[in-house]
Amino acid sequence: MSEGGHDFAEMYAEGIPPWQIDRPQPEVLQLIENGKFESPVLDLGCGTGDNTIELARRGLVVKGLDAVLEALRRARQKTEQAGLKQSPEFILGDALRLAESGLKARTVLDCALFHTFSDEERETYIRGLEAVLSPRGRLHILSFSELETRQPGPRRLSLSEITGSFGAGWRVEDSVRCRYWDRVRPDGAHAWRVSFVRE
Ligand SMILES: C[S@@+](CC[C@H](N)C(=O)[O-])C[C@H]1O[C@@H](n2cnc3c(N)ncnc32)[C@H](O)[C@@H]1O
Repeated sequence: MSEGGHDFAEMYAEGIPPWQIDRPQPEVLQLIENGKFESPVLDLGCGTGDNTIELARRGLVVKGLDAVLEALRRARQKTEQAGLKQSPEFILGDALRLAESGLKARTVLDCALFHTFSDEERETYIRGLEAVLSPRGRLHILSFSELETRQPGPRRLSLSEITGSFGAGWRVEDSVRCRYWDRVRPDGAHAWRVSFVRE
């Protein structure tokens, strides 16, 4: 479980990690505006919860899952400060063990998680997604792209590498070049947003 060779728990313990921007990603806001989320939503690798909280603010029933307790502590603190009518639920868990989690979703958000996995882990992850996502449900992936050559950061993926990881039963609804905003690049990192529909 690492980002560019660094352990996630250590990165949270050291302070504010580069991805913690304390606001939702613009690309996620665009998806919300376009009606591309349906409840229940699962935000995998939710970090400190900015996207999860925004989804709840918009009236969606949402759970955020992360493997690092400190990330969830920050997410819960932000939720308290947000004063929402309906709060998201934050769960400590492993996105590589979704198949046995009992979780169910109509929409899954993967914002900067998929690109952290090894090739082998990807296969396990996709089998888990198949267990949690309902038929005709959507999966949105936001991943660093090969066009982002600056360090630091995670592994970079091409569009064909992302779409090619998903086999039969997954349809690409759309894919766009976009930015993933972080704390180290004032213009954001080059990224892909790929949306899949589960058939
Ligand atoms: C790059 S951060 C992105 C966080 C958040 N989605 C965002 O965009 O702000 C990746 C997150 O995934 C979490 N993570 C990594 N591997 C995980 C796993 N196997 N299961 C659950 N969470 C994981 C990390 O702890 C970290 O919070």
